[in-house]
Amino acid sequence: MTVFDESERLVWAGRGEVYAASFAKLCAYPVGELLDAAGVGEGTRVLDVGTGPGTVAAAAVARGARVTAVDPEPSMLALAARTAPEAEVRKAMLPELPFVEGEFDAVVANFVLNHVGRPRAALGELRRVVRVGGRVAVTVWAKPPAAGQALLGRAIAGGGAVRPPHLAPGLDPDEDFPRDEAGLGALLAAAGLGDAACGTLRWDHRASPEEWWSAPAGGVASSGQLVRAQTPAVRAAIKRSFDDFSAAFTEPDGMLRLPHAALLAHGRR
Ligand SMILES: C[S@@+](CC[C@H](N)C(=O)[O-])C[C@H]1O[C@@H](n2cnc3c(N)ncnc32)[C@H](O)[C@@H]1O
Repeated sequence: MTVFDESERLVWAGRGEVYAASFAKLCAYPVGELLDAAGVGEGTRVLDVGTGPGTVAAAAVARGARVTAVDPEPSMLALAARTAPEAEVRKAMLPELPFVEGEFDAVVANFVLNHVGRPRAALGELRRVVRVGGRVAVTVWAKPPAAGQALLGRAIAGGGAVRPPHLAPGLDPDEDFPRDEAGLGALLAAAGLGDAACGTLRWDHRASPEEWWSAPAGGVASSGQLVRAQTPAVRAAIKRSFDDFSAAFTEPDGMLRLPHAALLAHGRR
């Protein structure tokens, strides 16, 4: 495990419910296109890696696929088992999966590669467990982030947050890759996936300010861990900053409209 992976274990520990009530709704947007890119339909043996609360797994079940879903975090596995009871839900963590070579027709990972310490090795493992001719499809957040996506980071910086030592600052530079179409496409190709292609998905996510703030306040993702590690005074300053920056995204009905951009890449073994 890399330092980044150890940090990620702490970041997700016990966060299933708060994630499901907040960021999971944002991450649900690409699910249909992700499953299309992986060729998931009736009878497809599909593996959903980093299933979280099981959103992708449930959508694949609804298509008639035979679904296996894995995640390293117990609070996520409990939710996934409830959301997709027809799926086989198991504990597993990239870059090593407990499956034999070529066990699946399709492998998907929705916003997971951006949480692993060794993305190249992780993609190689996704390729290993898909059959020859089968497809792998993944999403990650684009960088630089879209305006709505940058809101929390701006609020955290604006409030004067200081990074605690238990949170890894980022990937080892040797492991990192450009979060654009060329960068993610090249990563798939380097992992041995053929016909690798990558496109950008853009959408506006609508959420109430309370819901959007509930994720950092509840410690979801590294931004949430960063917020929770601050003194009460700094947390209050971050919240004020969040309220100020949110104004630009607030619609007449009081909801936030937050532009987001993600990369969707797929390739064939
Ligand atoms: C942003 S959430 C995405 C969850 C889900 N795919 C969705 O679309 O809502 C990231 C998920 O990846 C999982 N994860 C983090 N590191 C992982 C790893 N090394 N291998 C597999 N899953 C991992 C986390 O536990 C979490 O459930």
